[in-house]
Amino acid sequence: MTQNLVLAIETSCDETAAAVVADGKNVLSSVVSSQVDIHARYGGVVPEVASRAHVDLITPVIAQALVEAGIDHSDVDLVAATRGPGLIGSLLVGVSAAKSLALVWKKPFIGVNHLEAHLYSCFLEEPDLELPLVVLLVSGGHTMLIAMDDHLSYKILGQTLDDAAGEAYDKVARYLGLGYPGGPIIDQLAVSGKPEIEFPRPMLHEGYNFSFSGLKTSVINYVRKNPGTPIEDIATSFQEAVVDVLVTKAKKAAIEINAKGLCIGGGVAANSRLREAVLDVCLQEGLHSFVPSRSYCTDNAAMVAAAAWRRYSQDGPSSLYTGADPNLRLPE
Ligand code: KG4
Ligand code: ZN
Repeated sequence: MTQNLVLAIETSCDETAAAVVADGKNVLSSVVSSQVDIHARYGGVVPEVASRAHVDLITPVIAQALVEAGIDHSDVDLVAATRGPGLIGSLLVGVSAAKSLALVWKKPFIGVNHLEAHLYSCFLEEPDLELPLVVLLVSGGHTMLIAMDDHLSYKILGQTLDDAAGEAYDKVARYLGLGYPGGPIIDQLAVSGKPEIEFPRPMLHEGYNFSFSGLKTSVINYVRKNPGTPIEDIATSFQEAVVDVLVTKAKKAAIEINAKGLCIGGGVAANSRLREAVLDVCLQEGLHSFVPSRSYCTDNAAMVAAAAWRRYSQDGPSSLYTGADPNLRLPE
């Protein structure tokens, strides 16, 4: 049986990742080297530091992905890399590495859209998900509600007008002095808090766009005025407001477009409360739900390989003149 082996590279932000995936769905290896410790002392990702770290890490990470997959580079059928959106210096490291390997190994290259890769993390583990689908893509840089009628075909129903959901988590955590990245820390604290503070639910019943900047400000103002409030209660109440807005809109969209299912993707999709709420709402509405494993929600290269294989099968390879594009958009 032929195995279509994709070696994929992801360096759009602060994770250096490489994976080998067969047929767009069988993950033979997925290596993620996180730079979190390097950036934590600055309270966020420092672009110049991130690109230098990618340069140091990229070769060992790719080598490890090949070794863990038990393959030789001659077995690779396609070399893929995220080409945008993301930090330009970081993207350039992955794209240059992938193009160089493709050239030397005489293999085709494909540049992948990072947002499409997050969407395809759903199909990685459940390749036969029935369409149409609504996907809620929530990460550090994006908050989008997307309708998918067919593979590689998207309609953006709504997106954030200001901060992304993950950005709001990170900014609230930074204000509270909790460290970086804030999402997992708030998620953890929220387990033992009470949702007693009624934070605003911005734009809850106003279409499909989102706005999290005002919510973040109201959390900060509340903490200033009520310094003795347990941090766990702040975390739980903030998280309830975010999840309420995300899930209410995702449910409405799924019903409106007659979707068969509702999926989530992106780093914030690793959030325990969001995962639970999406499963609940799908159960109530008779929708198929799909929540990827946490390791495929945050940045990884296996999702890049899944999207790469799908794109390559439809559109063929990218030219070796293809560059990185920090502002790449999801094609509609
Ligand atoms: O997808 P991702 O790894 O990188 C981007 O493409 O942005 O997402 C990173 C974001 C960060 O803002 C991080 O705080 C958030 O995802 N995040 C979470 C959780 N894990 C990561 N947010 C809430 N709960 C989590 N468990
Ligand atoms: Zn991402």
